Amino acid sequence: MQAKQIESNRITLQKGMAREVFELVKDRNRTYFVETYGCQMNVRDSETIAGLLQKMGYSPSESKDGANVILFNTCCVRDHAEKRLLANIGALKERKEEDPGLIIGICGCMMQQQDVAKKVMRRFPFVNFVFGTNVLWRLPELMFSALNGERLILTEEEGFAICESLPALRSNPFSAFVNITFGCDNFCSYCIVPYVRGRERSRALSEVVAEVRALAEQGITEVTLLGQNVNSYGKGMGVDFADLLHAVNGVDGIRRIRYMSSHPKDLTPRLMAAIAENDKVCHHMHLPVQSGSTTILERMNRRYTREGYLHLVEDLRGMVPDIELTTDVIVGFPGETDRDFQDTLSLMDQVGYAAAFTFKYSPRKGTLAAGAEDQIPEAVKKERLKKLNELQGRKTAENNLKYLGHRGEVLVEGFDRRGETILFGKLGVFKMVYFPGDEKLLGTYQTVTVTECARNSLLGRME
Ligand code: 5AD
Ligand code: SF4
Repeated sequence: MQAKQIESNRITLQKGMAREVFELVKDRNRTYFVETYGCQMNVRDSETIAGLLQKMGYSPSESKDGANVILFNTCCVRDHAEKRLLANIGALKERKEEDPGLIIGICGCMMQQQDVAKKVMRRFPFVNFVFGTNVLWRLPELMFSALNGERLILTEEEGFAICESLPALRSNPFSAFVNITFGCDNFCSYCIVPYVRGRERSRALSEVVAEVRALAEQGITEVTLLGQNVNSYGKGMGVDFADLLHAVNGVDGIRRIRYMSSHPKDLTPRLMAAIAENDKVCHHMHLPVQSGSTTILERMNRRYTREGYLHLVEDLRGMVPDIELTTDVIVGFPGETDRDFQDTLSLMDQVGYAAAFTFKYSPRKGTLAAGAEDQIPEAVKKERLKKLNELQGRKTAENNLKYLGHRGEVLVEGFDRRGETILFGKLGVFKMVYFPGDEKLLGTYQTVTVTECARNSLLGRME
């Protein structure tokens, strides 16, 4: 096996090993399929996996059927994704019996937990390898071992170094995800992420800007800067997220800058000013509130209060009046009373989010909240989620109504060809607009006027 090469905080790709795999599979028309669960970080990781497999001589397959390599990129933030994954792996048993050459690998956050990785390998003896999010760069070694009939588990790497030299096969030719931080230091008491993705590390500003510049040269015009908490980018490095926004704003060819997610505790006036000042930064912020009750926020270790959050929203809207907010909310956190839940409803009503991702609290082994004794019954969680979704449904419709007659620019992202061709694309504020047009306009920016508001979307016409 090739030794890992770490230079300061960087690792380099196992180029030699990738070449060895390439030699083994070349001229054999080998294909791969990656099934991705979870958040945008995982979507971005899957692009790296695709890039690596491409380097090793594999080409993409449209579906799982017929693929020679199937990889599952997993999520463990809530138990729902875990259950779905286990069922989907189980379903491959017969395929593997028919085609013993099929390579099945499992990666991502769920596999970063040693005990889970071992359990999966025991339960599914037909799985070739499992590996965690922090060792993507070792995929060539895993593929080489699988082709030679070995089974491997590779999880946590000491130091969680950043690998800057990995290829990526981007899934969208106009818009790209760009990692800016990895891991998380916040330890919200319900969340498994800090345990599976490790301590927060930021990429060097020059590396991020160089990647954005290279993307712009390939025709990408919209970038989404990704991190568990982008607002704390650069901690300990003498730069911050505001500096990064200024720098990326200066890249020629880039027209839109998005970012996700923002922790309220690190939303500073300086950052708000950077959003207001830089013309390419979109007026949308995903600002997860999680709960509207200060008591629950404290138990969640969020480090802000209800009032503090509301003040931030007021300040932000003062500086960027047309900014749209989206959020994440958890219902049924341990100890959440009816009163606490009412506080969440009233905060949602007061803020008026454009959209919200709402979740029932899901205990994650090893987190502080999972050990709490005052867990909330499932039926109560379900009832609260329903109420919350009903409220947000009304708020989304109300928010959409504001856009009736609005004129703005969209990036055309796709089209639907049922009868008349309908194009769709998002406004800067992250609202999707559907409008008739020619599919040749894919990837261009068009000015549209909103003519109708459906419950979850806007309909419009092009100028
Ligand atoms: N249970 C429910 N929701 C969770 N989230 C994170 N951990 C949990 C959990 N244990 C939600 C939070 C976070 C989003 C990505 O997932 O709302 O912002
Ligand atoms: Fe999890 Fe909190 Fe970190 Fe977000 S900020 S990834 S919710 S620990």
